[in-house]
Amino acid sequence: MNLKNCILILLTLLTLNSSDLFFITKLYAMGTDMNEFDLKKLKIKRKQECDLDKTDRSSLRGILSECFPECFTDRVFYKQLPTMRLMAFYEKRLIGQVGIDHRVVSVNRIPYQIFGIVDLCVTGDFRSRSIGTLLLTALENLANQCDVNYVVAFADQHELYKKLGYKQVKANCRFLAIEDLSSHSIIERDESKILLIKSREDVDFTDKTIDLLGHLF
Ligand SMILES: CC(C)(COP(=O)(O)OP(=O)(O)OC[C@H]1O[C@@H](n2cnc3c(N)ncnc32)[C@H](O)[C@@H]1OP(=O)(O)O)[C@@H](O)C(=O)NCCC(=O)NCCS
Repeated sequence: MNLKNCILILLTLLTLNSSDLFFITKLYAMGTDMNEFDLKKLKIKRKQECDLDKTDRSSLRGILSECFPECFTDRVFYKQLPTMRLMAFYEKRLIGQVGIDHRVVSVNRIPYQIFGIVDLCVTGDFRSRSIGTLLLTALENLANQCDVNYVVAFADQHELYKKLGYKQVKANCRFLAIEDLSSHSIIERDESKILLIKSREDVDFTDKTIDLLGHLF
């Protein structure tokens, strides 16, 4: 990560606490010119699922089907709706999003509140400009504000997550299997290859079973 990106993320961490709608103008003022990408025009908005309007849903369908063509065609969710989303707009165009699944999981019958990362994506022409990093940083900041101690991702590719301090965890997961809008079974299996966790606490889930108390997001 270059110096500009470090400054960008550091400043973002400082600016995100105050509100669910924030502007990243400050970063631009600090002189982060990113190949004509104008940070003044970037806004990240937090929206509850029930606050999405018709335009939001239509933009989400577009970006999700572009970024996950094998999973999304005409829906704004894959298995289930997230609790809320962080949506990145450049001027009025939706260019990135991450869904947040706020839930309780259980390990040895001890409940832990988590934020599950759902369908993080950035549209093709805006990638590699730290927008994915900003979305994850905003999500983690919100997790801190909400006293959520674990941020959990299931991902095949780990680069971005590892850069941000997520750790691959060797654990089993128990979850409700959903296929084609139908719940069909409870599965328990080793998800070590795709399970990534970032935490404020030092609790070790290694070789334990994490009961997701719902679907795998
Ligand atoms: C993953 C993704 C959101 C990253 O967005 P971004 O704005 O480019 O992210 P950043 O600029 O902050 O960081 C880019 C880094 O993310 C990493 N990365 C690229 N694709 C990735 C992926 N699919 N999963 C995880 N990390 C990825 C790379 O290390 C990349 O570094 P590079 O630009 O030097 O190649 C974007 O590539 C995307 O939408 N991919 C398609 C959808 C997807 O696979 N989502 C991940 C679901 S877990």
